[in-house]
Amino acid sequence: MLGLAQRAVDRKWRLPMGPLVGRYNPYSPAYISDPYRQLDRLRAAAPIYRSRVTGSYVISSYELASEALTDRRYGTNRKEDSSLRSKMFFRLAKFTPEEENALDNTLGAVPDEVHQHMRKAIAYDFSRRRVTALRPRMEFWVDKLLDEAAARAEFDLIGDFAAKLPILVAAELLGFPPQDAARLQEWSDSYLVLVDPLINGAGIPRMNAAFHQFDPYVAETLRRKRAEPGDDLITRLLEHHLAGEFDEVQLRVLIMMLMIAGHEVITNLIGNAVAGLLRFPDQRELLAADPDLMPAAIEEFVRYESPIQAAWRIPGEDLEIGGVRVPAKRAVTVLIGAANNDPAQFAHPRRLDLTRGDNRHIGFALGSHFCPGTWLARVEGAAALSRLLERFPRLRGDADRLRWKPAAGLRGLYELPLTL
Ligand code: HEM
Repeated sequence: MLGLAQRAVDRKWRLPMGPLVGRYNPYSPAYISDPYRQLDRLRAAAPIYRSRVTGSYVISSYELASEALTDRRYGTNRKEDSSLRSKMFFRLAKFTPEEENALDNTLGAVPDEVHQHMRKAIAYDFSRRRVTALRPRMEFWVDKLLDEAAARAEFDLIGDFAAKLPILVAAELLGFPPQDAARLQEWSDSYLVLVDPLINGAGIPRMNAAFHQFDPYVAETLRRKRAEPGDDLITRLLEHHLAGEFDEVQLRVLIMMLMIAGHEVITNLIGNAVAGLLRFPDQRELLAADPDLMPAAIEEFVRYESPIQAAWRIPGEDLEIGGVRVPAKRAVTVLIGAANNDPAQFAHPRRLDLTRGDNRHIGFALGSHFCPGTWLARVEGAAALSRLLERFPRLRGDADRLRWKPAAGLRGLYELPLTL
């Protein structure tokens, strides 16, 4: 049924069906090891085209991607998406009513007014000033993990460090006890399936199970914070809820989202940055000689190997994008990683260049869904990388044998063994 319906819609529109169609396959091994060759060919031939693999329209140029992310005619509620990707996801997921209700109340699905309240409610805790003040606490956790690493013969940057740090930092910022880090990490990991449902179909039962543990855990934490308020984000969000800005379900989902959203991406930022430095020893030397380069380096790491590679937008009406007509309610995949490697915007994009001028990458997106965790990512990324490179200036690893996780929406490594 679905296939017939899509073909009927597709016949109605003139689609850019060049020889490239079918060659953009984010799930192929070649793409997973190096997406940028395919993305270069795709961008050059059709900066917007309809993918048969994902059933959505795919944007790969910087110009069209920036326009799409700031265009108010798009929504972000994936339930409104009629493309195969979302249909398959909802079919496979078999959500319970509670889960459906949670999905309807994510930052991407709530009405604009509630979205604005939520963004304002978290703005203080994610502001540059507030996050910078937390840097000593971040360094405390960084050092603790690196002390443990130094005592080990083998060190996996991802499993032993980059995956653990963001959970500890986010837990502290939100007001969860650090001893709950292991289960918070398990629940957060389970949710990755939301980003890449097609390939991670098998992860759906794990996500369902995690929701039924994480949600009551958050509810219990809220009961505790009501009785004993703390100087933390959960307590402040509770106050906004009590002032009527969002309801209880929206509050719980927001808290879960904040825990999940900042985890895998910071892991990937740290892992991708170190992989990039191993690949470009001259840039590593530059950074070692001038640690003040770190803020610019973080921006370049996010551009060069963007931890979030794609964002999805659902047109609320029929649109014309780059000369192609896209029907309402059919997802548009904005390939952030492709845009950040568009040679029309960035000279020699596959060169990691920590001194790159005018680095207006869109790795944190643009527009109303611009990443609220940008400063947290910058400061935490800088704390982690500065300490790692300072403490282990001779660290070595093999940049030619990187194992990338298969995912169209995220880019990160399974592991990165290092000799310290
Ligand atoms: C290197 C690290 C990070 C990168 C590259 C990144 C990137 C992004 C991008 C591209 C989006 C837009 C997604 C879309 O429009 O569909 C986004 C949204 C978001 N990010 Fe981040 N992010 C990072 C870290 C964080 C952290 C640390 C947090 C919080 C703990 C966070 C919380 C969020 C949330 C809640 C949203 C949804 C915002 C909304 O819909 O209004 N992110 N991020």
